[in-house]
Amino acid sequence: MDLRLTGKRAFVSGSTQGIGFAVARALLDEGAAVVVNGRSADRADAAVRRLRDEVPGADVSAVVADFADAAQVRHLLDDLGEVDVLVNNVGVFELAPFEQITDADWQRYFEVNVMSGVRLSRHLLGGMLARGWGRVIFVSSESGVDVPADMVHYGFTKAGVIALGNGLAKLTRGTDVTVNTILGGPTFSDGVAAAVAQAADAQGTTPEELKSALAAGHRTSLLQRFIEPREIAHLAVYLASPVSSATNGAALRADGGVLTTLT
Ligand SMILES: NC(=O)c1ccc[n+]([C@@H]2O[C@H](COP(=O)([O-])OP(=O)(O)OC[C@H]3O[C@@H](n4cnc5c(N)ncnc54)[C@H](OP(=O)(O)O)[C@@H]3O)[C@@H](O)[C@H]2O)c1
Repeated sequence: MDLRLTGKRAFVSGSTQGIGFAVARALLDEGAAVVVNGRSADRADAAVRRLRDEVPGADVSAVVADFADAAQVRHLLDDLGEVDVLVNNVGVFELAPFEQITDADWQRYFEVNVMSGVRLSRHLLGGMLARGWGRVIFVSSESGVDVPADMVHYGFTKAGVIALGNGLAKLTRGTDVTVNTILGGPTFSDGVAAAVAQAADAQGTTPEELKSALAAGHRTSLLQRFIEPREIAHLAVYLASPVSSATNGAALRADGGVLTTLT
């Protein structure tokens, strides 16, 4: 299927590694121009170099900004230019006992996981509507539907992202702009791989053993393995494409079947 993304310009927040990098790569594979993002020039430049190596002829550049810092986000928005496909991917996550999550943690999670998407969408959606075509995609999580007891702050922000996508879609009525949300499940991104390696070390086991044990021990996973970042990226690229024109305001799952109910 031709996903008709040649000539489209995409921005993927938080894309120097993990799911964001895989989305950038998949969009480049389909011929879109892509702007990647991370907090440091070194890591952003390294991601651009890797993408140029992996996708010959790739039209890829980087804008550095930390989404925890509103002033840096303002500079990013000034520099960004027109965007046809906005992928709100950036997100932070960490296991934490509820009683130990400080006000500062709550604020940082809200800034990075929710306000990133608010600020980018507020800046870019109007242009999409004026030009008559656009795609806004939020990368949320099954944790926004079934909030984990050991990541309440994370689940709370991911529920907020689902609500944001649902509300913004209503602003696109009668246009060829769509806003959709992906509910990802446990994915072996670079961030998760680092957390697994750290936990394995603490438990005196190997990362491979712990990875298998976590996947097999997941209470509800139908997949019984971690999702690969590219499996989330495939859904993102479909939603970015003109071929997904009848899907708007939706929250679609790429969760490996961990959510057990229909709604
Ligand atoms: N992995 C999962 O199991 C899973 C499941 C469902 C949903 N998700 C969602 O998928 C998204 C990506 O997760 P991931 O697992 O791929 O993460 P990851 O491997 O940890 O990568 C995070 C990316 O975000 C960037 N980043 C982090 N904080 C940032 C900030 N304040 N400003 C700008 N960039 C920032 C990092 O770049 P630098 O370090 O270079 O700044 C990196 O490129 C998140 O929204 C997450 O909630 C993940």
